[in-house]
Amino acid sequence: MAEITPLTQRAAWRALTAHYEQIKALHLRTLFAQDPRRGERFVAEGAGLYLDYSKHRVTDETLRLLLSLAHECDLRGHIDAMFRGDKINITEGRAVLHVALRAPRDAAIFVDGNNVVPEVHAVLDRMSSFAGRVRSGEWKGFTGRPIRNVINIGIGGSDLGPVMAYEALRHYATRDLVFRFVSNVDGTDFAEATHDLDAAETLIIVSSKTFTTLETMTNARTAREWALATLKDEAAIARHFVAVSTNEAEVSRFGIDTANMFGFWDWVGGRYSMDSAIGLSTMLAIGPENFRLLLAGFHEMDEHYRTTPFERNLPVLMGLLSLWYNNFFGAATVAVLPYDQYLRRFPAYLQQLTMESNGKSVTLDGTVIADYQTGPIYWGEPGTNGQHSFYQLIHQGTRLIPCDFIGFGRSLNPLGQHHDLLVSNIFAQAEALAFGKTAEEVEVDGVPAWLVPHRTFEGNRPSSVILAEQLTPQVLGALVALYEHSVYTQGVLWNINPFDQWGVELGKVLAMRIIPELESASPPDLKHDSSTNALIRRYRAMRGRS
Ligand code: F6P
Repeated sequence: MAEITPLTQRAAWRALTAHYEQIKALHLRTLFAQDPRRGERFVAEGAGLYLDYSKHRVTDETLRLLLSLAHECDLRGHIDAMFRGDKINITEGRAVLHVALRAPRDAAIFVDGNNVVPEVHAVLDRMSSFAGRVRSGEWKGFTGRPIRNVINIGIGGSDLGPVMAYEALRHYATRDLVFRFVSNVDGTDFAEATHDLDAAETLIIVSSKTFTTLETMTNARTAREWALATLKDEAAIARHFVAVSTNEAEVSRFGIDTANMFGFWDWVGGRYSMDSAIGLSTMLAIGPENFRLLLAGFHEMDEHYRTTPFERNLPVLMGLLSLWYNNFFGAATVAVLPYDQYLRRFPAYLQQLTMESNGKSVTLDGTVIADYQTGPIYWGEPGTNGQHSFYQLIHQGTRLIPCDFIGFGRSLNPLGQHHDLLVSNIFAQAEALAFGKTAEEVEVDGVPAWLVPHRTFEGNRPSSVILAEQLTPQVLGALVALYEHSVYTQGVLWNINPFDQWGVELGKVLAMRIIPELESASPPDLKHDSSTNALIRRYRAMRGRS
């Protein structure tokens, strides 16, 4: 592997460090006063999204230096390598080609000399035909009744994408089908999802890239028993179970006919898979045509990322701004605040995308990162609900929390004044965070002196506003791709691998060791630390297994 300059020794990083000292105290009030056109200049557009980043603590010089850092880190070369199908996920020896999942039919993207685009479209075509049959009622359950319920069983990327997309695109979904999503190994999840459903009218999608994940396989086995309790015939499984996986052997071992399997490939990461066959539940809900529009939105943002100069490139700008606060201002988190009820699961979805990707502490060559932070914590809730919960801390707490506000020009449910009220709150929150309210302004309101500090808003709290016309399938695709590519941009600069997830392994291995220790009839020979041993003993006692 070629020797690369450590991030903190790069000229642009050093220049940014010095520049930060110069501008850290600069207030957004001053920046806006100095440039009356700031709100029109610090904006970028692409793939149907408008990004206003004027309320960030940046000057033209900051942006110039951040862009230099991107160039010094060869972001261009890394973007090209991803789109070319290079094996950039070096710890798993894999290409990273979620962009191929939404490439048009006539595109050509090669993995090991094989054009993968025809395979992608072959699966999409099979999904479309299956979805059409289920949606029209042509696909019948074992007893001849049509399918009325769909349960997606999966976890992580095999759940969060499907459930987020279902919620986000509910407006476009058929109301003839009931959708449920089961992820947790806690039996409550399965029990509550199925208690009012009839197995004879239920289709179960077992979604798992590996088809070995403990939670999913446990829920899938329970689902099998649940279905057989009503249908009482193994032959029913083929009418009620389909699988989405890369692992044909395990699918067949589980007993699902591989004719009812929709495949994908090892070059699709779990958290980057909602637009692969993992999106089967999405397609069943919104129909094949809307699903293709979703893919088109993803692709539009892919093309924007691949071809737009960095100074106008939305994912690049968002990635650089995130790095600016994370690494120079010491901001540990980013709040994602969609002002749309349909996007209520979007922050949860982004948590896996961003944190499983960039929660890394060694560089690509295995060096422990000691002098800069990597992935920030992403969190959030839809507005305006969050305003009545945690915004207090964002406005007046001691921490700096950059915010991403997301809003739409038109509501999918225009009711009276609701939408104007909703959107006014986005603009008001971003304005209040940026400009605050000075002690003088508070005094003018006649507030007694002792109360003034409590009612003063320091301001200078940064935010982006992302606006789109309406929440359509295309816009959702573009929005997800925006964050995917922003994550990659940050990962490239930090010189980490955003596409592996070794950090989830240890807990899984230890759980496998602990399961028999919880369940054995005779007292187990415990060799953990004293805390884990005591907890195991206490649990066994609670279960009467001392
Ligand atoms: O928990 C880690 C993880 O591997 C995620 O990356 C993945 O999305 C999830 O588990 C589910 O994996 P699978 O689709 O293989 O069941």
